[in-house]
Amino acid sequence: MFRFRVSRLVAGKGVRVKVGRELSRAGVKRALLITGVNTGKTAFCRDVVECMENEGIELSIWDGVRNEPDEATVNAGYSFAREKDVDAIVAFGGGSVMDTAKLVNLCLALKGRLEQVVNSIPPALTLKPMFAVPTTFGTGSETTCAAVVKINGVKRGILHESLLPDFAFVDWEIKAPKSVAASAGMDAVMHAFEAYTCISSDKIEGGIYSGSSEVTDTLALKALKMLRHLPEYVNNGSKAREIALGSNMAGMAFGNAGVHFGHAASYAISAKCDAPHGVCVASVGQALLEWLKNLDEVRDKAEDVESIVNINELRREVGLPSLSELGIGREDVEFLVEKTMEVKRLIAMRPEIGRKDAGEIFTSALEY
Ligand SMILES: [Fe+2]
Repeated sequence: MFRFRVSRLVAGKGVRVKVGRELSRAGVKRALLITGVNTGKTAFCRDVVECMENEGIELSIWDGVRNEPDEATVNAGYSFAREKDVDAIVAFGGGSVMDTAKLVNLCLALKGRLEQVVNSIPPALTLKPMFAVPTTFGTGSETTCAAVVKINGVKRGILHESLLPDFAFVDWEIKAPKSVAASAGMDAVMHAFEAYTCISSDKIEGGIYSGSSEVTDTLALKALKMLRHLPEYVNNGSKAREIALGSNMAGMAFGNAGVHFGHAASYAISAKCDAPHGVCVASVGQALLEWLKNLDEVRDKAEDVESIVNINELRREVGLPSLSELGIGREDVEFLVEKTMEVKRLIAMRPEIGRKDAGEIFTSALEY
């Protein structure tokens, strides 16, 4: 059995100016816009603010999101939000902004700071409606039930059905800086690749991540075909539609199927170096793909991926470093294996990869 959950999607060039109308139609009178300090200053953000004001929506703005949010970031947003009596949350930004907005919304519903509420989220919970406008194309957070946050210095993925935004506005006129577009885009490639090659939904008793199915496979494959244009997008700004929709569809795929070793490894790598999530996860991509070709159950799928994209070439063409260029060496492999295997929820999505295999994957990734 599997479930399939995605946000309602509004996609197109310039759709950021439709946010106000949609809020109005949902009966929203007072909204909280959550964004980052720089993103909040862009003309794109002003467009969103304006279209809400034109609808007569009373707006509060909190631009305190930092990259790689932690409990302090979320709690600061919560303190701001609980003073305002809003009936919807609008997130305008990349993964960090959308994830923070989801968790602020969670704290509002459960009336507590993040660390007080996060370990006891009731199964049935309804949050305030959330409208997500991604400004980077990669995390897919606009259409997933996941939020990543650092708690006590440890990065952790929080999964709950209530965290799924109600609406995703995917507007490919919105542009991010080149290096951000590159790492976010490679994150999306890894989402599609890992969703496609994760355990089948009929082999696990799934939670939010319920394994791959015909539905997620179709989305993941199409996403990969669109995302292979990433170098054109990063290097000359073309193919924006392909990257924006490819990233969203990769989000739909992994948000339901799951991700596995690459994402577990990325948590371990980010404990060793300060690189963005997309950089960490892409640095093991090719080695993981090669390893999967030896596994009967998933060989055909790994070959499908290989016939569409060369992950290592893609990574190089968009200017992202290899694992060794991140300053990781053979002496770190044991640590990485240890930390990766601790991410049991993701390891369970491709359980054949044991400690020895993990070591092999990291060692071979150091050769790229
Ligand atoms: Fe990711």
